[in-house]
Amino acid sequence: MNELDSQLAAELLQQLGYEMVPSARKADVILFNTCSVRQHAEDKIYSALGRLKHLKQYHPQKIIGVLGCMAQKDGQEIFRRAPHVDLVVGPGRLRYLPELLERVAAGNGPLLAVSPWSESAERSSLLVAFEPFDPPRRPQSVPPPFQSYVRIMSGCNKACTYCVVPRVRGPEQCRPPEEILQEVRRLADAGCLEVTLLGQTVNSYQYRSGGQTVRLADLLAMLQPIEGIRRIRFVTNHPRHMTDQLLQAVRDLSKVCPYFHVPVQSGADAILRRMQRGYTPAYYREMLARIRQTVPEAAVTSDFIVGFCGETEEDFEQTVRLVEEARFKNAYIFKYSPRPGTKAAQAYPDDVPDAVKRRRNNELLQIQNRISLEENQKFIGRRVEVLVEGPSKTGRKSPESQSTLQLTGRTPCDRIVVFPGDRRLTGQFCWVRITGVTPTTLLGLLEEQPQIVPYSCKGISYGDSTLQV
Ligand code: 5AD
Ligand code: SF4
Repeated sequence: MNELDSQLAAELLQQLGYEMVPSARKADVILFNTCSVRQHAEDKIYSALGRLKHLKQYHPQKIIGVLGCMAQKDGQEIFRRAPHVDLVVGPGRLRYLPELLERVAAGNGPLLAVSPWSESAERSSLLVAFEPFDPPRRPQSVPPPFQSYVRIMSGCNKACTYCVVPRVRGPEQCRPPEEILQEVRRLADAGCLEVTLLGQTVNSYQYRSGGQTVRLADLLAMLQPIEGIRRIRFVTNHPRHMTDQLLQAVRDLSKVCPYFHVPVQSGADAILRRMQRGYTPAYYREMLARIRQTVPEAAVTSDFIVGFCGETEEDFEQTVRLVEEARFKNAYIFKYSPRPGTKAAQAYPDDVPDAVKRRRNNELLQIQNRISLEENQKFIGRRVEVLVEGPSKTGRKSPESQSTLQLTGRTPCDRIVVFPGDRRLTGQFCWVRITGVTPTTLLGLLEEQPQIVPYSCKGISYGDSTLQV
């Protein structure tokens, strides 16, 4: 979601004549888009801001801005901790970025633009305060245009006790289906092959109009016929909204990728209750069984928080058991990080020592890595269709691949595939025969040498030697 906001903000400014430059030294405007989901992400931003202090001292005309969730959460506090910052803009105020920059440039800074928020605010006033930011797309401006994110909803209506998102992004607001269709059509016309629909709880999408309700499954069916689009993905799902209708849509619509990211967070009933996730481990297991039954080839991935308030060794063992059973393609595992303003931070002590959180994190990761490796091994000898994303970062560095460039791309089930090939295959679909695996990657060889049609879009060529995708 943040990556999309960064792209949209950049597109908006580029339409007004701003240009990207390769370094902060060369920039007149330096903007940080920020995340506040864990403390670590915020610490990184404050130290990056600290590193700019000298630059600002010698070039006071440079404008430094902080955008996004941390801007909304910390507000004035950012000016206190980093007095050289000129502009702080929350996610619900991003549409005003151009005029805010103009006002700062005219000497009217520093400026704070965040959505008014309070615990007791009415839902209707929060809907107004958190204005969705979906300006018209200019897909050619941000590479690679053959893959695009499309926001279908902003905000979140859940109240997970550990999570800061509803407080910094406001309540759920779904975009009208017509607007989404129009955006995807425009992206397809500009050469987009794959869209990833975004929402904090994307499978709770619903839009009511004229006595009808359009849900995610309906939206997928509406997107399927759009010419040019070859793959449709959607993230992130909430277990409570994984309906049979949605599973059947994924099974039946050829362009919709068999991939579900459904965070479970914990395998212990007591912890899920304290997290206010709204389901039990038994419910999650039943949901998983429905996915496996309806879409057997689907890859399922998950998120976990270890060391949440009051998590005992027995609770953690239950999470281990769930990971062993579920056989996720991969899982993102995080140490609990208390977020100011959340219910957990107010009501429950952060009582699991950091060393224990770290140990549980490593243990779970090790188990998941073994499972990921075993699941990937099933692909050895199989042929997969890959959308090539460009040269592989690790492949470029490995000595044995100095003579042959390694490319990276993804299968429909979101597995990363690395194989030797011509960089001009970037943005093309290829068939790759899998010959080896790691827990995170499938390794293979091109099945047949495809005809190289360098992907180009509105004069920008992706895969030529001057442009790094
Ligand atoms: N501490 C640690 N991890 C968190 N997440 C969300 N809030 C926190 C927190 N306070 C994790 C959840 C979520 C993912 C995006 O980030 O696992 O699914
Ligand atoms: Fe946060 Fe829960 Fe909403 Fe996800 S569903 S964004 S974890 S409040």
